[in-house]
Amino acid sequence: MDVSGWDFSWLDGRASEQRPSWGYQRLLAERLAEASAALDIQTGGGELLAGVSVFPATMVATESWPPNVRLATARLHPRGVVVVADTSEPLLPFGDEAFDLVSSRHPATVWWTEIARVLRPSGMYFAQHVGPLSNVELYEFFLGSQPPGSQARDRNVEAGAARAAGLAVIEMRVERLRVEFFDIGAVVYFLRKVIWTVPDFSVDRYRGQLRDLHRRIEDDGSFVSHSSRVLVEARKPA
Ligand SMILES: C[S@@+](CC[C@H](N)C(=O)[O-])C[C@H]1O[C@@H](n2cnc3c(N)ncnc32)[C@H](O)[C@@H]1O
Repeated sequence: MDVSGWDFSWLDGRASEQRPSWGYQRLLAERLAEASAALDIQTGGGELLAGVSVFPATMVATESWPPNVRLATARLHPRGVVVVADTSEPLLPFGDEAFDLVSSRHPATVWWTEIARVLRPSGMYFAQHVGPLSNVELYEFFLGSQPPGSQARDRNVEAGAARAAGLAVIEMRVERLRVEFFDIGAVVYFLRKVIWTVPDFSVDRYRGQLRDLHRRIEDDGSFVSHSSRVLVEARKPA
């Protein structure tokens, strides 16, 4: 089962996820059309950027996971977007004030000080982050009830970190979205692809819970969970 890329079409008909109301790709495309130099951080397999029709004169994307570096390069280089293979941690391999727009969808970690460093004065960070308690029903089914734990995805914590890096927060809007799994194969695929949901997941390790969940889906018709997404806009002061 190939889980590279960031395209969930394998799940069509087997699972569904409601999309945020704001339409991130369209909003990003509008901003890219106005930018002169832009960076997309953790671009994945390049699926999202490839759907944008107009790029700024300088357009780069970073990616650190080798299978996705390969996919993103193949997809984006023909469009004139340079894919830089980096590490998933600082430093971003760019000079200070290199970009007037920095974007990222669902970054695994957000390095606010690095984002602020590579933005020009008046430059914008525009992103969609995974929000708090995303798919809590799904991971607690496997892991049991979890302690409140890290608040890193809390919008107030994120806003505080953005401000501490010198950015002015313009938008931090959260939506909870319905996710529905119609068969156990779809759950396995999702957990193998979105590896941080149940960090030590393997079919062997969780065979018992998978069997229980399979029965539950057969009885109820589906398993419902809720993801959360945050629309983020932050500006570097002029
Ligand atoms: C959640 S992905 C989002 C990718 C992209 N921005 C998008 O929205 O389509 C964020 C980062 O996780 C990385 N990633 C995804 N699956 C991974 C895996 N199995 N191991 C390591 N990194 C992974 C991606 O390559 C990417 O850099």
